[in-house]
Amino acid sequence: MARQRCVFEPQLYDEAGLCDNCRSMKPAVLVTRRIYPEAVEYLKQRAEVDYVDSDDGLTADELLRRIRGKQAVVSQLTDKFPPAVIDKLEGVCVIANVAVGFDNIDPAAATRRKILVTNTPDVLTDTTADFAFALLMAAARRVVEGHQFVHSGQWNKWRIDLLVGQDVHHRTLGIFGMGRIGQAVARRGRGFHMRILYSDAVRAPEGVERELHAEFVSADRLLRESDYISVHVPLLPETRKMISADQFRLMKPTAIFVNTSRGAVVDEAALADALEKRVIAGAGIDVFENEPTVHPKLLKLENVVLAPHIASASVDTRKKMSMVAAENAIAALEGRRPPNLLNPEAWTGA
Ligand code: GLV
Repeated sequence: MARQRCVFEPQLYDEAGLCDNCRSMKPAVLVTRRIYPEAVEYLKQRAEVDYVDSDDGLTADELLRRIRGKQAVVSQLTDKFPPAVIDKLEGVCVIANVAVGFDNIDPAAATRRKILVTNTPDVLTDTTADFAFALLMAAARRVVEGHQFVHSGQWNKWRIDLLVGQDVHHRTLGIFGMGRIGQAVARRGRGFHMRILYSDAVRAPEGVERELHAEFVSADRLLRESDYISVHVPLLPETRKMISADQFRLMKPTAIFVNTSRGAVVDEAALADALEKRVIAGAGIDVFENEPTVHPKLLKLENVVLAPHIASASVDTRKKMSMVAAENAIAALEGRRPPNLLNPEAWTGA
């Protein structure tokens, strides 16, 4: 089998991928915070595992200290790997992120150091789309306000206009980013007989447009014509704050805005302002610019449904994400190309 390199001594590998000095040694993996136990077991059967069995996360210094002597890191989106950190990683072959998003890692810096970077796509697509739609529905039909109303004992009579919301069915759904999750959200919209508009840097294949009856439009047209707007783009320099005051001004005053991608794609202060001044009608927000801190204005508004970054949080999906990350890490350590390799330029194996 062709090997990426010996995990310990790149220059001295044999056919099994191990150098003379370390043929009997197991590679070492750091798991930076709690993941599902079956993934830890899988790793332990194949490597020495330094498991941070806690939800607290490591500081930047602790992260670097714990990585020392490891060949793989199973990381989460709270672990930051900017170039300054990546440049200090000695002997690390792979960073396996337990997330589809990887804006916490600088892939270019990793590529320069020949460190493989992987993520966990596919397994979370439908779960995340379900939740985007749940936020959309909750905001449109005022589910949380209804819950609070009943829960606080305020419900004492039926009223024709009590907590009236907006219809979802047969309305227009605008999707920013027609990748896997955007398509899954569009599919749900079709189930509600919605008209689908989308905007993206690259047009989706014809088959996708046909299946979803999705129309490729400019960002401005999407903002002007949509009743519901859902964002599914990765966080990149060009998507940072792509939804800001100007974009909210273009939306309908009845529009409902949903974000399950990354908080920094939206200018959170501008969102809070747009909701407060009723520039738009409502929002469903799962991701924030400085998690777990939320803009204080958002915490006071009734026309926004807030969630703590849980769009992919079903038991099955979070287990699968843990396993996929573990499998990516082990593949790299065993010299196999990881299934979800993000920086193929760093791959020197066959
Ligand atoms: C969660 O936000 C993910 O990127 O998987």
